[in-house]
Amino acid sequence: MELKEVIKNRRSIRKYKCEEVQNEVIQDLIECARLAPSAKNRQPWEFLIVKDITKNEIANIMLEKQKGQNVILEKKLLGANSSVKETAKTIKEAPILILVFKQYNENWTVGDALGVGAAIEHICLRATDLGLGSLWIRDTTYSQKEIAKLVGYENMELISAIAVGYADEHPKQRPRKKLEEILKWY
Ligand SMILES: Cc1cc2nc3c(=O)[nH]c(=O)nc-3n(C[C@H](O)[C@H](O)[C@H](O)COP(=O)(O)O)c2cc1C
Repeated sequence: MELKEVIKNRRSIRKYKCEEVQNEVIQDLIECARLAPSAKNRQPWEFLIVKDITKNEIANIMLEKQKGQNVILEKKLLGANSSVKETAKTIKEAPILILVFKQYNENWTVGDALGVGAAIEHICLRATDLGLGSLWIRDTTYSQKEIAKLVGYENMELISAIAVGYADEHPKQRPRKKLEEILKWY
């Protein structure tokens, strides 16, 4: 696919077919993440692939945490009350969850986070290119410490996760601001 087509066709996918994703495909996605730019070329990322029971445990940790104070926080900040719940459902349904860890670094926190974002987008775009669906997930943030502990990554920050699999839905393009609203010429 042409790059612009890939960019246009990418969607957040929240329903997945019960179909495995081959390890070579996952390797291909992470290879694309590896090529992403990063502040000072620090490449402050690590990608942990989780499936099956561990993936479901992660979803359960998120659901458990949501029962506490975070649902209030979410409602207050985002005007939502069930997004963590829906994200956890998607995580259970998707065959693959990529946990995206960022090294802790006091000096370059923002730069590093931006670089990790670039790597995540490379994964999502390549997934589209290969006929896969993906969902960039940040709802893991509320329980990032518990999830990191579960998989033995307490020394890193779980900055995001990406659900990957074959799409079982084909959503229309979600609304975007008009070009004139965001493009200014000085
Ligand atoms: C940083 C980031 C965090 C996101 N976190 C979540 C999430 O936790 N759960 C979810 O369902 N979608 C999440 N999304 C997906 C957005 O909701 C989605 O990109 C947006 O609604 C536009 O839809 P589209 O991706 O289909 O164009 C996230 C996207 C980004 C970039």
